Parts: sequence; structure tokens; C-alpha cells
Amino acid sequence: MSNNEVSPIRIAPSILSADFARLGEEVRDVVAAGADWIHFDVMDNHYVPNLTIGPLVCEAIRPHVEVPIDVHLMVEPVDALIPQFAKAGANIISFHPEASRHIDRTLALIRDQGCQAGLVFNPATPLHYMEHVMDKLDLVLLMSVNPGFGGQAFLPSALTKLREARRRIDAWQQAGGQAILLEVDGGVKEDNIGQIRAAGADTFVAGSAIFGQDDYAAVIQRMRAEIATAESRHV
Ligand code: DX5
Ligand code: ZN
Repeated sequence: MSNNEVSPIRIAPSILSADFARLGEEVRDVVAAGADWIHFDVMDNHYVPNLTIGPLVCEAIRPHVEVPIDVHLMVEPVDALIPQFAKAGANIISFHPEASRHIDRTLALIRDQGCQAGLVFNPATPLHYMEHVMDKLDLVLLMSVNPGFGGQAFLPSALTKLREARRRIDAWQQAGGQAILLEVDGGVKEDNIGQIRAAGADTFVAGSAIFGQDDYAAVIQRMRAEIATAESRHV
């Protein structure tokens, strides 16, 4: 976690597109290839129409990598799973505000369990959910697809929303608030990651774009190069 303060950007491969029969090897390989985080998608066939992995799998991959495990909960209800994921070695836990009856309480619970806390915004979820809980956020995650599946196309409306989220987070930090990371998830590829960086993201989830290639290191390097080019143009 100490890297968070020094590294301005993070690449977080989503293991949703990994080979589940060889998950330990997949996470080791992608970290060796330069991944900063492992993004861990939890789907419950209730909040989203798909069913994936839970705390047992998080616990199983934990000894294979030292990088932070970024747990994205697409589940409803949320709270009971938080201590289970904390115990399973999660570092960051994010949830969708629509899936919790008490957003402030859920955020506090994540931090009480020793993890960093994030709120996730679907494409049509308004950013105002963050307004009264800025002090409890370590991460804001904007979905650039509707949640539930890997391999979907990036929704361009996410770029406008990203700029607005960037503006809110910058204003908060300039007023003395704590650091809040801004992550984007869904349809992130080599050919749009520069635009996404320019719109204000600092943390990039990519599933099919990385695990769909043979050479993970090469694609991560090309993503970093696209980000660097975007920074040299816009910053
Ligand atoms: C979608 C998940 C994403 C997904 C990203 O509900 O939250 O993390 O795995 O996959 P790609 O990068 O293929 O869109
Ligand atoms: Zn995700």
C-alpha cells in the first residue's frame, strides 16, 4: 500500500477475464508483468445478473501476490461480506451505494476492518452520493460499463462524469481533505486509456484488454506509454 502515495497512476487488472483454473499463476504473472493492484469482481446474481467469486477465492490468491487486492462488491446486501473480505486479505473494498441501506455506516465498517473504502458509481448513478461522505472515502470508482460482465464497450458518457468527479475530488483535497483515488472500470483498453487519463482518472481497471493478450507485460507497458503521452499533452 505504501506505493499509493508515490505512484501517480495504478493499473489494476480485473481477474474476471483470467483463467480461473490457474488463478494463482495468473495473478503472479500479471503482477510480474507490472500490475499495481489486483481488481477482484464479486457478483451475486442479485445486484448484478452474474455470479463470480467470494472471500474464499480472495484468501486463496492472497499468498500469491503482495500488491493490494481491490475488491469490487457488486452484491446486495453488502455489510455481511465486509469482515469476510477483510479477513481474506482485501486491501480496498468498494460497493455500490444503491446496494446499501446505510452508506455512511458501510463505509465506516470497511475502515473499521482495516481496509480502504470506496464508493462505486454505475453509469446512471449520480455523483451526489459522495457529497456527505467525502471524509470517509479513499476511492471513487466510476463504472464505464453497466456492471455484471467483462468485455463490454466503454461508454463515452463516463468521460464527462470523470471530469466532474475529478473536479469534486480536487476541490475536496484543496480544502484540506484526505487523498481520494479516482478509478475507472469497464472497457478500458490501450486505445482509450489516454483519454481516460486526460479526463482525470488515476487508477485503471482492465480485464479483457490485459488477460485477453498473451503478453501481459507488453500490454501494460503500452497502456503506461499511452497514459504518459496523454499526460504530456494535457498536464
Ligand atoms: C464489470 C467489472 C469489471 C470488468 C472489466 O462489472 O466490474 O471489472 O471485469 O472488464 P473489461 O476490462 O473487460 O471491461
Ligand atoms: Zn470491477
